[in-house]
Amino acid sequence: MNKITAAITAVGAYVPDYVLTNAILETMVDTNDEWITTRTGIKERRILKDSSKGTSFLAIKAAENLLEKRGIKAEEIDLIIVATATPDMPVAATAAYVASEIGAVNAFAFDLQAACSSFLYGMSSAASYIQSGRYKKVLLIGADKMSSILDYTDRATCIIFGDGAGAVLFEPNDEHIGFVDEYLRSDGIGREFLKIEAGGSLLPPSLETVQNKQHYVFQDGRNVFKHAVSNMADVAEKIMTRNQLTQEDVSWLVPHQANRRIIDATAQRMGVSENKVMINIHKYGNTTSATLPLLLNDYEKQLNKGDNLVFAAFGGGFTWGSIYLKWAYNS
Ligand code: UT7
Repeated sequence: MNKITAAITAVGAYVPDYVLTNAILETMVDTNDEWITTRTGIKERRILKDSSKGTSFLAIKAAENLLEKRGIKAEEIDLIIVATATPDMPVAATAAYVASEIGAVNAFAFDLQAACSSFLYGMSSAASYIQSGRYKKVLLIGADKMSSILDYTDRATCIIFGDGAGAVLFEPNDEHIGFVDEYLRSDGIGREFLKIEAGGSLLPPSLETVQNKQHYVFQDGRNVFKHAVSNMADVAEKIMTRNQLTQEDVSWLVPHQANRRIIDATAQRMGVSENKVMINIHKYGNTTSATLPLLLNDYEKQLNKGDNLVFAAFGGGFTWGSIYLKWAYNS
């Protein structure tokens, strides 16, 4: 039987214009450029300033950018997955709204939430729909308006995150190039260390939860860091070993952009040199579901058909994993 391979055939992205620099953050909380740069690698991040716009705005812009680059019509899309931790609303899928707004009238759509691993898990889902033979064009969008869930008086979190969106199109490939392997993990003990405590079914919104600032992101950074460093490196190494990939075989490491030190530790464990590691954390900070497609968009021109890409991510939940994918086109 001829196995169908799922390939990424196009990339699109969008970041808002407003640049929140470390210098500006110095005027908002007790922090400094030197601390942020050495501890995280972040110099600036983008913020969607218009309070009337939610994550769907970012997602729509990224999708439209992809459609234009790929030269296809929205009507051709079969399925849209929006990977996000900041949907427009708790109920009513952001993806459904995005699909309607871009004119994807023949698609069904849903959201996927796995914190910073949302896009990675989304790649697994999108590729599976293609590999099953059921659908021909699956649009996966990673989008987050992180500024909507940040407490800009909390220096432990507000310096880390930014807003943005990226999109990729998965299509069948007849040359056996595309998605090769995945190793995805989760561990519920992690939810104590990185969470938004209120607003869900466990602790519904109330005057008290608002007063206690329980609708903002809470992170025990040190604990998350410890788990992220070991787990991201573990899964990336596992993917390499079971696919007999040597360090030379890996063309690019595509790591979630949470902290430059976590990225460096993962690359080191894999034995991959710095020039093969995609990095844009200095420009955008941690955009949660958007980091991986924003990397692909920034590095698209440097990618060649047949390149071996190893993705790795770690996020709240905990959720984490690694994916091995062969790049399918030259720009
Ligand atoms: O993407 C989802 C997964 N998330 C992650 O992977 C994030 C993982 N964690 C991290 O990246 C890091 O833990 C942080 C960047 C969040 C924090 O870096 P750290 O090196 O772990 O710092 P820390 O939390 O251990 O704090 C060290 C010190 C503390 O002061 P004392 O107690 O040593 O006096 C903090 O109060 O740095 C202080 N600090 C700051 N100082 C200046 C914390 N935040 C800041 C700040 N500016 N913004």
